Amino acid sequence: MVQTHSEMQAGAAVSGMPGGMSVRRIAEIGGAEISGVDLSQPLSPETRDAIYAAFLEHFIIVFHDQDLDPAAQEAFSRNFGDLEGNVRRLAPGKLAPLVNLVTNMDDSGNPTETPPTHGNYFWHTDKSYRPAPSLATILHAKLVPSSGGDTQFANTGMAYDALPEETRQRIADLKVVHSWEASRRNTGNVPATAEEIADSPPVTHPLVRTHPDTGRKVLYMGTHTSHIEGMDYEEGRALLRELLEFAEQPQFVFDHQWRPGDVVMWDNRTLLHRAVRNYDMKLEKRLLHRTVVKGTVPV
Ligand code: OGA
Ligand code: MN
Repeated sequence: MVQTHSEMQAGAAVSGMPGGMSVRRIAEIGGAEISGVDLSQPLSPETRDAIYAAFLEHFIIVFHDQDLDPAAQEAFSRNFGDLEGNVRRLAPGKLAPLVNLVTNMDDSGNPTETPPTHGNYFWHTDKSYRPAPSLATILHAKLVPSSGGDTQFANTGMAYDALPEETRQRIADLKVVHSWEASRRNTGNVPATAEEIADSPPVTHPLVRTHPDTGRKVLYMGTHTSHIEGMDYEEGRALLRELLEFAEQPQFVFDHQWRPGDVVMWDNRTLLHRAVRNYDMKLEKRLLHRTVVKGTVPV
């Protein structure tokens, strides 16, 4: 069964944290709530380090009841590295701001089932079409539906470990082509423009990636993938589909149910994620502010 916060017993708070901060695991596959930190204020180096340590241990960090304006969200995010903007142009030549919006609202602010982009409703890891894809994504909930509008996370380290040994051997050295253009195609989005393709040409990453901080092997794939290098195109796509179906099984998935004010920060180097259409997108507004921390070249 997919895990949600309420289904796991409250874990014990970890002692030895800086000034009032506590960390509580919330699901088997990952996820921890951190309380006692106001993210709108500058972090001490000790608090920053404790948050990053919790991030490496739990993959998904949830802070409740925060109130960050875009400048404060940007400052908080910069504790963990350089930030990255979007490939998608809002209009030709027009990039989104660094703190950009994830929403089901159209350009007039009305909720819709068909927002201007909907790639986030498919399993992916952020910016895997970049040479050095995202380390972390940070979402801050401003408007959430009365129920639903969840974000799901799949732990691809656990999924890798659960694969048959024969499969792990078969995929050990495979390389996957990811591209913005393929992503737009895979998700039935407005096709990539020439400007976007020039900004983000195809890249190749290992299918089995070693997490740079933990050394753990994970499956690195998702909806930004095109095909497997050196393999028949359809055969490669079928293998990617099969692995994705394996990784999205409920025992590897955590479902975050948003409250307004939540800040969630996750590790794109060991998780797939997607938004869930479990709310009335035509009637209810969902708006999150997003920042993305740049990572390293996958190996
Ligand atoms: C993202 C994303 C998921 C969601 O911001 O990168 O995929 O639930 N969001 O909106
Ligand atoms: Mn995403």
